[in-house]
Amino acid sequence: MEREISTRLIEALRDGQPDAVAIAAGGATLRAGGLVAFPTETVYGLGADATQAAAVARLYGAKGRPAFNPLIAHVASLAAARAHGVLDRRAAALAAAFWPGPLTLVVPREADSDICDLATAGLGSVGLRMPAHAVALALIEAAGRPVVAPSANRSGHVSPTTAGHVMSDLDGRVDMVLDGGATPVGVESTIVACLPGVLRLLRPGAVLREAMEAVVGEAIAAPDTATPAAPIAPGLLASHYAPNALVRLDAHEGRPGEAVLDFGGQLAARRDPASAYFDLSPKADAVEAAARLFAALRDLDRAGAGSIAVAPIPDAGLGLAIRDRLGRAAAPRG
Ligand code: TXA
Ligand code: MG
Repeated sequence: MEREISTRLIEALRDGQPDAVAIAAGGATLRAGGLVAFPTETVYGLGADATQAAAVARLYGAKGRPAFNPLIAHVASLAAARAHGVLDRRAAALAAAFWPGPLTLVVPREADSDICDLATAGLGSVGLRMPAHAVALALIEAAGRPVVAPSANRSGHVSPTTAGHVMSDLDGRVDMVLDGGATPVGVESTIVACLPGVLRLLRPGAVLREAMEAVVGEAIAAPDTATPAAPIAPGLLASHYAPNALVRLDAHEGRPGEAVLDFGGQLAARRDPASAYFDLSPKADAVEAAARLFAALRDLDRAGAGSIAVAPIPDAGLGLAIRDRLGRAAAPRG
């Protein structure tokens, strides 16, 4: 059994701006080797000082995360990114176009970087992201060093989009949770590998492949769906985003006893009226659906759903990221 610690839940916004006292407390906790969960525009992250191996080890322990799973280092400036990774012309163009924002660049690691090997799983590459959320940026600035932050959930659970989700997974296991309200995007960042050779999309997200191709002027290879846990992205485990319930994709009806996760009202009239029902977006808007996805999966779990039928979701735009996460939720459990 791991020893429980007392978790401070702190309101991080005051009149819509990062609260200076909360941010200073978060930065000091990170520098002292503590664990601080914080909002980003995608999902809540569980932060640790990327340069302190002991802090990163605590983070793996708090999440119950399999080791050798590389973490994203979050930075607050382009200069900080360049101190830790080698951005080629393509990576620099993507950073200029989409940072701060929901895009992670996997680039060769800078030789002088003080990010610890535990954070990068000993790889010669590093995942870098400059988040757009004001609380995240202020916290990283206050820490004064790169902050590794996987999603702030227990390993294998769905990602948290509210501070309440974080508390239900990590209360007693982390030092501090900064509450910045619900996260606007709702699914994790797009990840693109900018290593020598072709660019490769490792995880779809709110920054779309076509938009990135227009910026770099070359094709970006699709995610390797045949081998989702290919060596280049060892963290993209097949069943990473699992709720407790079984998930049935592209369903055309809700069966008796089955909860329904709808999109655009497609299954409203074809379901068991005695079972839970939630429409991710009655107006069939993928952006709205992404923002509500993980909270909906948690709610259906809490309602005791044993199985969830998911309506067809378009395989375009942010629908691609939603389908990717639901596909992992539906994958056979290891
Ligand atoms: O939106 C997000 O990206 C959130 C917020 C908190 O920023 N973070 C997040 O982190 O989703 P995490 O740890 O749950 O997912 C990071 C993914 C992992 O699947 C990992 O394999 C991949 O990024 N990754 C990190 N560094 C990598 C590297 N050097 N090479 C390949 N994949 C890498
Ligand atoms: Mg995660």
